[in-house]
Amino acid sequence: MLVSLGVESTAHTFGIGIVDEKGSILADQRVSLRPKEGGILPREAAKLFSERGAEVLFRALEEAGVGIEDVDVISFAIGPGLGPSLRTGAVVARYLARRYSKPLVGVNHGVAHIEIGKLLTETRDPLVVYLSGANTQIIAYENGRYRVFGETLDMGLGNVIDTLGRAMGIPFPAGPKIEELARKGKNLIDLPYTVKGSDLAFTGLLTATKKALEKHPAEDVCFSFQEVAFAMVTEVTERALAHTEKEEVLLVGGVAANKRLQEMMETMAKERGARSYVVPMKYAADNGVMIAWTGLLAYKSGLRTSLHEPVNPYFRVDQAEIPWVKERGGGSGVP
Ligand code: ATP
Ligand code: FE2
Repeated sequence: MLVSLGVESTAHTFGIGIVDEKGSILADQRVSLRPKEGGILPREAAKLFSERGAEVLFRALEEAGVGIEDVDVISFAIGPGLGPSLRTGAVVARYLARRYSKPLVGVNHGVAHIEIGKLLTETRDPLVVYLSGANTQIIAYENGRYRVFGETLDMGLGNVIDTLGRAMGIPFPAGPKIEELARKGKNLIDLPYTVKGSDLAFTGLLTATKKALEKHPAEDVCFSFQEVAFAMVTEVTERALAHTEKEEVLLVGGVAANKRLQEMMETMAKERGARSYVVPMKYAADNGVMIAWTGLLAYKSGLRTSLHEPVNPYFRVDQAEIPWVKERGGGSGVP
């Protein structure tokens, strides 16, 4: 039974995950930078990772009850992400691979969000709605790659939500609190809705929403913001679903936790004869398990990364090779 160890370090979380070939999760250890206000400072994240990374690694091996010699593949997130954060994880992975003569596999972080979602929801060939802090993309497998069928032209939806939260004095991450306020809202305020073909833009909505706070109760503002932002995402998802004719819709990334969003997606999917799924919340945010699992799929398909390959902060999901996925039902990869 092959065992893969994955290192995640693209942004605010340093995670080590260990999985086996059947998709069993043997270990999941993480440490995260929690900025009190504002965004993540890349250098602070890298500092935390270099101070705590070794401890996270040892905790993971202990949790899994394996020694490093029992691991068959060392996987790490090679991009996209913040340079200083990425490099800390890469150093750990390269060291382990070199020191213990293990194969090394660099994984695309977005692809890993997709693969862990597929594994845990047992979806086979979904249209993926990837909504995190920095990313907002509608993705599906076509012709050997995960293709992007729609995306934000400016900010990622999670960052929009957190920026709105900051204006309201809500600490990071603001999503859950804004969702709670929105549930109490009753009146729909007129806010700009920006869909351009199959893409989205959020800055106009963000500016108008912040302005609306001066005149309307916070509950109504949050309610209206969610209705508009999620309707925009649902519209482009519906367009991609019609185009790709996929039968499953899979929500991944931290914003996928939102119940109102889930409800809108489910209604839309149902109307189109598709089923909708949400990645389990424990694995929605960044973690080493998704890297370990994707690294194992890549390894079994023959992919390897040299010790000299640099990290790539701008590595797009549609640039990644994914030979383990087959047309119409690449499946979760579980035999
Ligand atoms: P990336 O994958 O781009 O590196 P990230 O790791 O920062 O981004 P995630 O951890 O996937 O992002 O998601 C975090 C985001 O999810 C935050 O912006 C947070 O506000 C948002 N979020 C969390 N819970 C909810 C919720 N219930 N409703 C809406 N947004 C939410
Ligand atoms: Fe992420």
